[in-house]
Amino acid sequence: MGIPAKKIDLFAGLALALLLASPVVGAQTTDQAWLKYLPVAKPREVPLHVHALGNSQIEQGAAAELDRGLKGLAGDRAPADVQGAIILGTSLEFRKAERHAAGLPQLAAEEFVIQWAGAVPHRDLEIVGGSDGGVLYGAFTLLRILATGSDVPATGLREAPAIPIRWTDEWDNPDGSIERGYAGRSIFFENGHVRQDLAPVGEYARLLASVGINGCDVNNVNAAAVLLEPEMLKELARIADAMRQWGVRMALSVDLASPQKIGGLATYDPLDPAVKKWWAGKADEIYALIPDFAGFTVKADSEGQPGPASFGRSPADAANTLAAALAPHGGVVMYRAFVYNHHLDWRDPKADRARAAYDIFHPLDGSLAPNVVVQIKYGPIDFQVREPVSPLFGGLEKTNEAMEVQVTQEYTGQQRHLVYLAPMWKETLDFDMRARDRATPVKDLISGKTFHRSLGGMVAVTCVGQDAWLGSPLATANLYAFGRLAWDPDLSAERIAAEWARQTLSSDPVVVNTVVKMLMQSWPAYEDYTGPLGLQTLTDITGSHYGPNVEASERNGWGQWHRADHEGVGMDRTVATGTGFAGQYPPEAAKIYESRKTCPDDLLLFFHHVPYTYRLHDGKTVIQYLYDSHYAGAERAEDFVREWDALKGRIDDRIFAETRARLVYQAGDAIVWRDAVVQYFLKMSGVPDDKGRAGHYPGRLEAEDARLDGYKVIDVNPWEDASGGKAVACELQENNALHGPGEGDGLQPVRWQGGKNAVLAAEGVFLRSNDFPQGLKPLSLGSFDVRAKARTPPLAGKSSRPGKAGAGETGHCSAEWIYSGEAGRFDIAAQYFDLQGGVAEFKLDVNGRPVASWAANANLPTRRPHGDNSTRYTACGVDLKPGDTIRVEGTPDGSDPAALDYIQVLRDWPACSD
Ligand code: GCU
Repeated sequence: MGIPAKKIDLFAGLALALLLASPVVGAQTTDQAWLKYLPVAKPREVPLHVHALGNSQIEQGAAAELDRGLKGLAGDRAPADVQGAIILGTSLEFRKAERHAAGLPQLAAEEFVIQWAGAVPHRDLEIVGGSDGGVLYGAFTLLRILATGSDVPATGLREAPAIPIRWTDEWDNPDGSIERGYAGRSIFFENGHVRQDLAPVGEYARLLASVGINGCDVNNVNAAAVLLEPEMLKELARIADAMRQWGVRMALSVDLASPQKIGGLATYDPLDPAVKKWWAGKADEIYALIPDFAGFTVKADSEGQPGPASFGRSPADAANTLAAALAPHGGVVMYRAFVYNHHLDWRDPKADRARAAYDIFHPLDGSLAPNVVVQIKYGPIDFQVREPVSPLFGGLEKTNEAMEVQVTQEYTGQQRHLVYLAPMWKETLDFDMRARDRATPVKDLISGKTFHRSLGGMVAVTCVGQDAWLGSPLATANLYAFGRLAWDPDLSAERIAAEWARQTLSSDPVVVNTVVKMLMQSWPAYEDYTGPLGLQTLTDITGSHYGPNVEASERNGWGQWHRADHEGVGMDRTVATGTGFAGQYPPEAAKIYESRKTCPDDLLLFFHHVPYTYRLHDGKTVIQYLYDSHYAGAERAEDFVREWDALKGRIDDRIFAETRARLVYQAGDAIVWRDAVVQYFLKMSGVPDDKGRAGHYPGRLEAEDARLDGYKVIDVNPWEDASGGKAVACELQENNALHGPGEGDGLQPVRWQGGKNAVLAAEGVFLRSNDFPQGLKPLSLGSFDVRAKARTPPLAGKSSRPGKAGAGETGHCSAEWIYSGEAGRFDIAAQYFDLQGGVAEFKLDVNGRPVASWAANANLPTRRPHGDNSTRYTACGVDLKPGDTIRVEGTPDGSDPAALDYIQVLRDWPACSD
């Protein structure tokens, strides 16, 4: 068997990597996440030489990646005495090279086989792909097998993706900001243009390809029409070029009003012939520049986005017009089912946002073109910590479906909290919809298997940024898991976690076991200390989507109601007495949700309104469960720090330190959540906690009870976000500090982006279109950036006059307590509000002796004291005795008034354990 012409050995491979331009293989300008190819202890049995049979960019890239990976995995170990080569190519190339001319199976384009050929010691390892894309996936699979300490089975392996469309959606705006992105600025855009430096885009595509992702929609679903302008399309083609080597096809989100906004037409009615022609012409123009363009994503008639409803047309009319334009080129339309009325009447017990997707799209089943895919969020509301699976998955039999999940942790802790989402996605994928009364797990519905659809998909809203993709090192586990599950939904969340940990951190079993345990417990913990029992996340849904705000979802048109009152809690969605949502499921599932008795506890309050004293399946009352779960979840978050500490010295120091800081923050924030939700429901229900914890905080000294010098007592809004509802703030003289930019009585510049949220120039402050300040008209046609002036209301509990007292001459304020507890060594936690708009400073002293000082310099949302910026600093190991004076001094800065909630004298705070 002769060595094929294009032999690449390790060194030549490296040279090739550098040659291959660039951006991609050789650059390593960005975080390598799970593609570090850390040396593995196990001797390798695969051959060292890599031979690519084909010339294509993708195949050559695959060969170079193998070289690079094998070298990394070998570390300094002497090469094993293995002869033969790794040979890669498409099945066609293998046939041409007269290898297994007759014996190769028919492979689908993305499918591959890895098999041994010949006998030891002259054994080749062959990677045969149905196309060069299949070869690339085979190469990455081989590397993963080796990196995770496994072997290629003697009988080889054959894999094909379960789900055809596997995309990430990035919500990047042309100005470089990212909607719901928590890792810095865009890797794609800046200042209204595509970035010059697209090296990170190539590296991102490499990461995506390594887990089988084959498409990337690069712009916000609240789409900017300008991106379809001819000049912009040329720029966008550069992004597609940067991703092509990795088999990742670029897609774009489009604004349905584009024919009018940038096309000069008088209408964007999807059935108007001129509009159809415009889209067809636009598609031709795109494909001339980007021959492998993947397609369009559409958000229409949703949260202020324009859509077919303006012309009395249906989503099918709009989707089919776009589909006709793309069909000749092989593109698809991902039409989002996230269409709902955000001006619902909250007083109407029958109104229900959860019903919207099914009500709108089920009647359209069978009327959508073959290259349209309806993209459905996993739950009927909006990426909440727990929702039932959207019934629409079971309601479309003659329509292609895709499931949309979020890697970016919008409602699940914004990457500041460790929340591994694979277990949630697994539950959704495995959920048996019982469509037509037979086993129909969601994974088979979205893959197209159940109803024999040619297309189907899984899409993750990812929102990577320049800050190490997702900001938090552990958050990349979610991106990894998304790709793996979209490829093979039968994988377990645990196995995926272990694979990720081995490749990203270390193959040391202590590391792998610890990290897998933490990851697996992280979603349940987050659910426990935020919104359990199907309450949804209980976060600030009209603001930053971060931090507790139990009533933010009540009494407004957004329809995320949980209907808590003094008697009970939960939304009645039954057919018998409620909104009828439960009836949207196929009969067997509907029956389970309809009855309180059979409804699973973790969704009880999503489907039923029950008294606080209602008993769950284990006999515990709902209210006691709410208390217990919040305490248990917060304790779990503390444990994460302790568990992580065991990894010191076993993993990369930077990742260790950075993650530890995040986990310590999370442990403190879980307490903010716990206290907010518990005190809210204690007050609402009037039912005491059996265990006596709710409303009692041993060792806590409230700021409002301290002897204050300069500090003023303020009401925090919402009240539950501060201990006892109150805090203290230090006003700057002559310049009411709490009324800094974006918050004061003055007019502040606002940039309206359309959609649900106005993104304000004063970062972190969000307004909704339905509570727009007087004088500022929300634009119905979405996505233009418009400069306007808005008047924002003063803070709750504040007068709008400049404060008389305050920081004064000294420039600071102070709060002082006399300690009356037992003598000993303690940790002292200070709970303060770290506002945007300035870096306030704090000092802690005991009897005048400095103990600690710190700056409020975190990047947390908003400019007013709130649960989303309530933060904990802990001074460790402080000696105290009765009668000691503990004093906190706060120095405001800019519009940050050094606001303080309380201090707490504790033992064994985990941040102090190392
Ligand atoms: C969420 C998110 C928005 C986004 C919307 C969507 O509501 O907060 O920023 O535009 O989802 O999915 O379209």
